[in-house]
Amino acid sequence: MTRGAVARVNRKVLFVFGTRPEAIKLAPVIEALRGRVAVRVCVTAQHRTMLDQVLSVFRITPDIDLGLMRPDQDLYDLTAAATLALRPVMQEERPRLVVVQGDTTTTFAASLAAFYAQTEVAHVEAGLRTYDKRHPFPEEINRRITSVLADWHFAPTPWARENLVRERIAPQRVFVTGNTGIDALLGVVRRLQKRELDPALPPKLLESFANRKVVLVTGHRRESFGPGFERICRALRDLVEREPEVVVVYPVHLNPRVREPVFRWLGTHPRIELLEPLEYVPFVALMLRADVILTDSGGIQEEAPSLPKPVLVMREKTERPEGVEAGVARLVGTNPERIVASVQELLHDSSVYRSMTAHENPYGDGHAAQRIAELIEQIVQGVVEPTLKD
Ligand code: UD1
Ligand code: UDP
Repeated sequence: MTRGAVARVNRKVLFVFGTRPEAIKLAPVIEALRGRVAVRVCVTAQHRTMLDQVLSVFRITPDIDLGLMRPDQDLYDLTAAATLALRPVMQEERPRLVVVQGDTTTTFAASLAAFYAQTEVAHVEAGLRTYDKRHPFPEEINRRITSVLADWHFAPTPWARENLVRERIAPQRVFVTGNTGIDALLGVVRRLQKRELDPALPPKLLESFANRKVVLVTGHRRESFGPGFERICRALRDLVEREPEVVVVYPVHLNPRVREPVFRWLGTHPRIELLEPLEYVPFVALMLRADVILTDSGGIQEEAPSLPKPVLVMREKTERPEGVEAGVARLVGTNPERIVASVQELLHDSSVYRSMTAHENPYGDGHAAQRIAELIEQIVQGVVEPTLKD
């Protein structure tokens, strides 16, 4: 190839993301790719505060910020706004490859916008499935549509890869990489342990944990809005009533559909600490201090086994069955009796506790971003069948 031809090769990789978990899981990939290809970052800012918290921790300055978050935005508005706002981005940036992550509205809209611009899409965390389009809502459909639109698929686990291949996606375009969220987590844990990072948890909060069992809670899923959240709140009240040693600590998601019931039902109990969403480093420090994690979050389900902490998943179905199969996670739904009994079992039966914390993390080994960076580099170089060395 002549020098002139080399200069014309388009090596621009455009990352598009919009929410807290996408930013956490793409930060290690962006870091691993810098210097290898031309990295550009576009945030839709589907989330504002919760996204900015992550951007500052990982020192990412977006090249393009679409500023799309609106209070209590609905799915129609956000999908339309993101798709339209991404049109000029695709036209002006003309990337060789667009990288998206996960299953949010931003993921779906960015994949669609790239497809309309006839630009290839690489999907990080591809192949997760419940095969129930209403659980989780709307994420199951977002990720299925993204798989149809994407050209390259980075599956975190062999099971996720099998799903895609079964859906007739070309096997040579699907790679098992591990989940990049584990890379982010292990990086922060290492730096906390070496005291290079400050856990920055409020001293008063730490005082309230003294000689207590800490149950860390997060919850934000749309399919639980309304009655589901009322049941979750009832469970948390019942738990602290029945267990005088327990402190519940709950950083509350900024979605008003979550905040309204949570503050109304739980705002006054002395052993329920409702917090604002925490920055990633203090949140990791809090997971390390917790005895039990109770959550409906996708990312936290994946992170807990690395710490290792038992995780009870407040959902009826999960697209991450590997944790349940490995015995490090349990599905408890939103039934108050079931939630309380499951937490109590973990608090009082040390053999159950040990059995949920004695396994390797099925979601990753902390090297997913390096694998993905290697593959992306090959893709933009035009290698027809990229391969992983290991
Ligand atoms: C979104 C994703 C979900 C992901 C979650 C991670 C969709 C449809 N949902 O859900 O898959 O698990 O993010 O947290 O893409 N808000 C703020 N400030 C913020 C963030 C949110 O005020 O920094 C409030 C706003 O009122 C906003 C509302 O939360 O309108 C909902 O945000 P949205 O991104 O639409 O949905 P999430 O419930 O956060
Ligand atoms: N997280 C955080 N601060 C919090 C709660 C969660 O930094 O107060 C992190 C958490 O460690 C995980 C990610 O946010 O990496 C999960 O985000 P969320 O639960 O909002 O979304 P999901 O993973 O369910 O899509």
